[in-house]
Amino acid sequence: MRVLVVVSSKHGATVGYGEAIADVLRSRGIEAGVFRPQSAPDPAGFDAVVIGSAVYTGHWMAEARDWAEFHADALRARPVWLFSSGPVGEPALPDPGDAVTLGDLPDRLGAREHRLFPGRLEKHRLGFVERALMTAVHAAEGDFRDWPAIDAWTEEIVRSLTPVRD
Ligand SMILES: Cc1cc2nc3c(=O)[nH]c(=O)nc-3n(C[C@H](O)[C@H](O)[C@H](O)COP(=O)(O)O)c2cc1C
Repeated sequence: MRVLVVVSSKHGATVGYGEAIADVLRSRGIEAGVFRPQSAPDPAGFDAVVIGSAVYTGHWMAEARDWAEFHADALRARPVWLFSSGPVGEPALPDPGDAVTLGDLPDRLGAREHRLFPGRLEKHRLGFVERALMTAVHAAEGDFRDWPAIDAWTEEIVRSLTPVRD
């Protein structure tokens, strides 16, 4: 069983999620590789694909969406899961219900599920404009990534990949 994990990240937080997903998959005996869209292989050689992106102003990064759209035919032919890393702070900002718009992408890929996970916002990693924007909306600074949640979600993926043995 081989699973392809493709992650799009501007400041590194989402790569961490991708590595965590791959760690859980490998711990279950599944071969897993984590790639940025620019260097990701063709999904055709894989049994399943997980695609994740950081969210900026309500959208996935263009490179993740472009990669998924380019490979839509191959992706539709295999199980695909999507995730986003976005809201920061407690309570979460933006509200998880408004954090990301994927449009018809999940349907076009035949994705099993899309999950939104909290993100990381550290001002020293941001450019001047990003920092000003985040200050203006009073976004909380910190690493809010939910490792137990990403591990549990990956375990769900593993269970649906593994044949049931009674
Ligand atoms: C300029 C800017 C805009 C953002 N817009 C959103 C947004 O619309 N929705 C959201 O959930 N998170 C938003 N975020 C938070 C990021 O998605 C979050 O920090 C993410 O974990 C960053 O991932 P990365 O380090 O992999 O790039 C924004 C962050 C910045 C700096």
